[in-house]
Amino acid sequence: MKPLLIIPPAPARWPMIERIGLERPAEWWADFKARVSEGGAGAQDAVALIAPGGEALGLACICRGGSIGVLSDIFTRPQHRGRGFARMLVGALLNWFDVTGGKTLHAAAPIDVAQRLLVPQGFEPTRRASDAADARVTLRRGSPAGQHDETGPGAAEVRAVLRGDWPALYDLLQHRPGPDPRVGLDESALGAEEFLAQLSFQQRRGTCVLLVESRAERPEALASLAVDQLGERTYAMILPHDVNSPPLRQAVERTATERGYARVEYPLQALAG
Ligand SMILES: CC(C)(COP(=O)(O)OP(=O)(O)OC[C@H]1O[C@@H](n2cnc3c(N)ncnc32)[C@H](O)[C@@H]1OP(=O)(O)O)[C@@H](O)C(=O)NCCC(=O)NCCS
Repeated sequence: MKPLLIIPPAPARWPMIERIGLERPAEWWADFKARVSEGGAGAQDAVALIAPGGEALGLACICRGGSIGVLSDIFTRPQHRGRGFARMLVGALLNWFDVTGGKTLHAAAPIDVAQRLLVPQGFEPTRRASDAADARVTLRRGSPAGQHDETGPGAAEVRAVLRGDWPALYDLLQHRPGPDPRVGLDESALGAEEFLAQLSFQQRRGTCVLLVESRAERPEALASLAVDQLGERTYAMILPHDVNSPPLRQAVERTATERGYARVEYPLQALAG
């Protein structure tokens, strides 16, 4: 059975995907629906489906921006597991990723699934936060996207975050500490997808503004400004915490002023010391 490859926007495919029975919060579904039906801004995503007779039995997805991607949401309906569907789904997505110029692909999975499903397809485990038998690990397939400890070539540009920036931001969070500087890199790298999803939901709700500093179209720093509470002051975060980006900081302050705030505080930056 050959997986069906969907390149968003593909609104006609959405009802079949929605019926698959994946348990996720409503906000996750809203985000996924927008990505499949409309396509993510600046993103080149793909969804693979096992859909004999027009009913989806399994799916997997790559969220991609440029040469970097994140493989996620590998799911087979419980009554159809153990028939090689996940392996076929992942294989179809990897073919697409490779032939369309993808270079670095990230994923995260429970260790046993990682070893049986992803390592045989060329992934290498990169980070693991615990020794527990059911621990989750992050994996990477292909060359590292960059070292993230030096400035790239070209002029810096500050702009709103697009969906197509997420894979490169995920990649950044595999190398540099996440939002809470007290959390170790292994743990924060494993939490990158959840963290980025939460930011995405907040951006969609209008409770935060997300800005990115990019160079040669590659995000190097991310800023999040809270705009949900009215008052004198508000809060912001710039990642990586130790990045010195006057243009990004100025853009954060300017956005805060436009929203009526007199002062911006950076509490997590203070924790980073
Ligand atoms: C994990 C999951 C996608 C596997 O789907 P599937 O269609 O049954 O997988 P396949 O039949 O293609 O199996 C591929 C390989 O993975 C192994 N595998 C499948 N599910 C596994 C599990 N839960 N634990 C360990 N290995 C597993 C299979 O044994 C097989 O390896 P083998 O050929 O060496 O025996 C499915 O169980 C699922 O949807 N689980 C819930 C969501 C999830 O955990 N997704 C993965 C993380 S993103």
